[in-house]
Amino acid sequence: RHHILSLADFTTTEYNTVLQTAASFQEVLSRRTKKVPTLQGQVVANLFFESSTRTRSSFELAAKRLSADTLNFAAATSSMTKGETILDTAKTYLAMGTDIMVVRHREAGVPNAIAAEMDRLGVKVGVLNAGDGQHEHPSQALLDLFTICTLIDPASPRLELLKGKKIAIVGDILHSRVARSNIWSLIASGAEVHLAAPPTLLPKLFAEYILEEAGVKNQQFIISSSPTPHSPLPTPQLFLHWQLEPALQNADFVMTLRLQKERMTAHLLPSLREYHQLFGITRTKLQLCKPNVKVLHPGPVNRGVEISSELMDDPEFSLIQSQVTSGVAVRMALLYLLGSGKA
Ligand code: CP
Repeated sequence: RHHILSLADFTTTEYNTVLQTAASFQEVLSRRTKKVPTLQGQVVANLFFESSTRTRSSFELAAKRLSADTLNFAAATSSMTKGETILDTAKTYLAMGTDIMVVRHREAGVPNAIAAEMDRLGVKVGVLNAGDGQHEHPSQALLDLFTICTLIDPASPRLELLKGKKIAIVGDILHSRVARSNIWSLIASGAEVHLAAPPTLLPKLFAEYILEEAGVKNQQFIISSSPTPHSPLPTPQLFLHWQLEPALQNADFVMTLRLQKERMTAHLLPSLREYHQLFGITRTKLQLCKPNVKVLHPGPVNRGVEISSELMDDPEFSLIQSQVTSGVAVRMALLYLLGSGKA
């Protein structure tokens, strides 16, 4: 593929290629000299039309570790403030010789639109979705996958390591592009995925969307508001809960999500204190999970809202810093696979 825009159609082979390539770059990053000449002479442009700390910086560092030249664009300080359009901005970077465009935008579909324009122009430019609106954040889900798989088997991270694991995704699922990308990868792995949120942040319509778009096989999917969901289906893989406890019960991993206040209209915004009481993850609530449970969060975090400050900083449970570290190796893998035409 020329572009990485979504995980909805990623194959097992593609997941494993990314995981294995990232593992080899993780090894490079552990050396004294952390740089390889792989993308020497290529130009990676970070086109960030929406703010970011870790995605933008780790794509930049990943490109530099691969010896590519990097260009960083931020909409607020660009000629978009003078009226230049998104596609004209992308074409400006194309004219400078950009090989890979890493695109983030607050609207869903912008990376796809830029990719379509590059294809229409017949140029060999790869487009990487670095988060578009509420749609997808593929590199985040791939680094989450890598973080979990390397914890289970550091020598050989692979998709099937998650088969049968119970993974809870908790919080503002409605607005989360991270949740959407993670749902695709976790379902592909054979994990049992439990989504938990208040009904306002996990509407039934979303479940129908998952069924249709993800093609969850044989309707292996349950909506439950009861504490112990029961399914007549043989091997359900995706569960939706409007309470936290059934999602946490015996979970191996808990993915917490940021309450995306900036995407909410006032009627959706819960009281933060009540939200923390009902859906905030704390060490006490983790007692429902497996004893060696681990907690993830894509960041940035609202401390004391979706996760307690104490738990966030607890190295026994929290993988949050490991996720950020994994991000560099995984993004090196994605840039390498696109830049070398092996994606
Ligand atoms: N997880 C994530 O996308 O973080 P940033 O917004 O800081 O890039």
